[in-house]
Amino acid sequence: MNTKFNGQSPARIEKKLQHLRDDIALHDRLYYRENKPQISDFEYDCLKAELIRLEQIAANFGMESGEDSVGNDSANGFQKHPHLTPMQSLSNTYSRDELVAFDGRVKKQLAEQDYSYIVEPKIDGIAINLIYENGELIRALTRGDGTFGDDVTWNILTVQSLPRVLNQCAARLEIRGEVFIDEKTFEAANEQRRSQGLEEYANPRNLAAGTVKSLDPQDVQIRHLKIITYAVGCVSDGSLGTQGDVLKQLLAWGFPTQEKYWVAADVETAWECIQELDLERKHFKYWTDGAVLKINELGLHEILGSTAKAPRWAIAYKFAPVRVSTKLKDIILQVGRTGVVTPVADLEPIEISGSIVSRATLHNSDEIEKKDIRINDYVFLEKAGEIIPAIVSVDMPKRSEICKPFSFPTHCPACGYNLIKRENEVAWRCANPACKAQLRCKISYFASKSAMDIDNLGEAVIEKLVHSGRLKTVADIYNLTYGDLIALPKFGQKSALNLLKNIDLSKTRPLWRLLNGLGIFGIGEQTAKDLCKKFSSIWEISLASVEELACIEGIGEKIARSIIEFFSNEGNQNILKNLEQCGVCLSLKPTFRQGGEKIFDGKTFALTGTLKKFTRTQAKEIIEARGGNVANSISKKIDILLCGANSGSKLSQAEELGIEIWDEEAFLSKGNLLS
Ligand code: IVH
Repeated sequence: MNTKFNGQSPARIEKKLQHLRDDIALHDRLYYRENKPQISDFEYDCLKAELIRLEQIAANFGMESGEDSVGNDSANGFQKHPHLTPMQSLSNTYSRDELVAFDGRVKKQLAEQDYSYIVEPKIDGIAINLIYENGELIRALTRGDGTFGDDVTWNILTVQSLPRVLNQCAARLEIRGEVFIDEKTFEAANEQRRSQGLEEYANPRNLAAGTVKSLDPQDVQIRHLKIITYAVGCVSDGSLGTQGDVLKQLLAWGFPTQEKYWVAADVETAWECIQELDLERKHFKYWTDGAVLKINELGLHEILGSTAKAPRWAIAYKFAPVRVSTKLKDIILQVGRTGVVTPVADLEPIEISGSIVSRATLHNSDEIEKKDIRINDYVFLEKAGEIIPAIVSVDMPKRSEICKPFSFPTHCPACGYNLIKRENEVAWRCANPACKAQLRCKISYFASKSAMDIDNLGEAVIEKLVHSGRLKTVADIYNLTYGDLIALPKFGQKSALNLLKNIDLSKTRPLWRLLNGLGIFGIGEQTAKDLCKKFSSIWEISLASVEELACIEGIGEKIARSIIEFFSNEGNQNILKNLEQCGVCLSLKPTFRQGGEKIFDGKTFALTGTLKKFTRTQAKEIIEARGGNVANSISKKIDILLCGANSGSKLSQAEELGIEIWDEEAFLSKGNLLS
């Protein structure tokens, strides 16, 4: 037996192995059990690759090798059930050469037999096994330890696209796929976390995993889980000859399947398909982190068999995240609209997959401490798929004495007020309600595209108006005068008038926009929309009880209480009153006096131009509620043209036909809409 290998003694290798195994076990726990990974997939895969390398060296020494498992995602609170056939994992690689080596092994094992490949997107979600009995879905299991999975049937039943009943299938059947959360839901969930001062979800896969293994049905419902299926287990009648047939059969049963897959005659062609997938995957409706290369002929799978962990007929090729190193010049502290102070990395600008990056969030003080990030450090930035570049770690060998640990301030960097940390929160927030930095963000958010959408009311303008004391609340926007705006630097007559027009236009935005713009703790775009399905005015919401609020999708007791707190605050009540006085629409439909019900009976209207008090849809609803109807184009059948500002060609057409023309004022008075 060797006593030294590559200059390393067995004892040293043993020590390194132990260290690596402990490290991997820690990251397995964080990934599989807690859905809170601390390192990227790439870093994790590197640790695993190093483990395999060291184990091979250890084997050459005749040392015992450690256990290799598929990972264990079992969670407490779920019943364990056996899979009909074990759920294995896949070997994975980041290298083309290893794919070629994989092909070499397949070729050798299959001797003379012909084979082809299927290249499928590797969905970045959580593996699920669906068990159907006599065509009926009876159970959904997570992978668990590969033999027993957690029964998550109730949670999986929230996946709307999942067929509950299958026609023409075997008596017992397993369907395998990947559950995920789409981009919109992920963004909305993180927006809500931000507004609550909570740590954001690391990535959509972890949120999906947490949701599938959640014990709170309401939590699951709002995540809109989705699935893509790719395998059928437990079918041995030979009806499915290839993996391509499997995917077609899944589609025929009504399962969501891959958007695209490729059949390739050999590994070189498969490699080209993988490159094509890499170019196209950003347009997919689900997240992908690589390709799965499978032998297409199912009959050959049995011949190839599997190791303890993974089949020999498939391999995953993972797309390596792009990683660069750059200098962290400074840590900037940003005060958000809820007072949360977010540390942001000010980086030496660097290109990463086509875009120049000079800022990246550092999330919170814990994150800086955990990763031991210091000003002047060189840090690694990683961008996987479409996800925003993140600082993954510090380039330690490049650390010098000038890199001192960062101490998070105890006072607001903008106003000097105390910073506080709420219970169960990681974020530090400024406790000063009059903090100008918070006010700037509040007003910016109110005017932003996802709220009142006031074009041209950008951050620079807001900053000046807040600084001069002209904007103290969001309601002050509606009292801005031409004089206020023309006095701003670089503001001409045209820009001032334009902004005033845009402010005016925003008064009739849909109610959810206003509700979202108010910056109520826990209310984001989606929750605001959900609230507006049940309540038709701000005042109605302000009178709702915790119970009434908490039964709305996305609102738990905590958010319900924050809504009540917001409306019971006198300052907020004044803001709402001021908004109303300025003509901002605080209800779903503009309120109008009762008694005008059939005033437009039998009259046909056409609409043109922009109205001040209503959107077109609202005007249409008002006309219809009063017995009239609305046509899309001008013809002799039209009785009245309701004409707003910047009218189009309809006005001249109507004039030619001698049609009666009303401006908004006439509409208000003849429609009995003035209060
Ligand atoms: S086939 C024996 N096909 O990736 C396992 N898996 O990292 C056969 N995955 O465990 C799995 N997309 O959870 C297969 N198109 C695809 C996949 C896919 C994602 C998951 C699956 C697997 C894991 C391995």
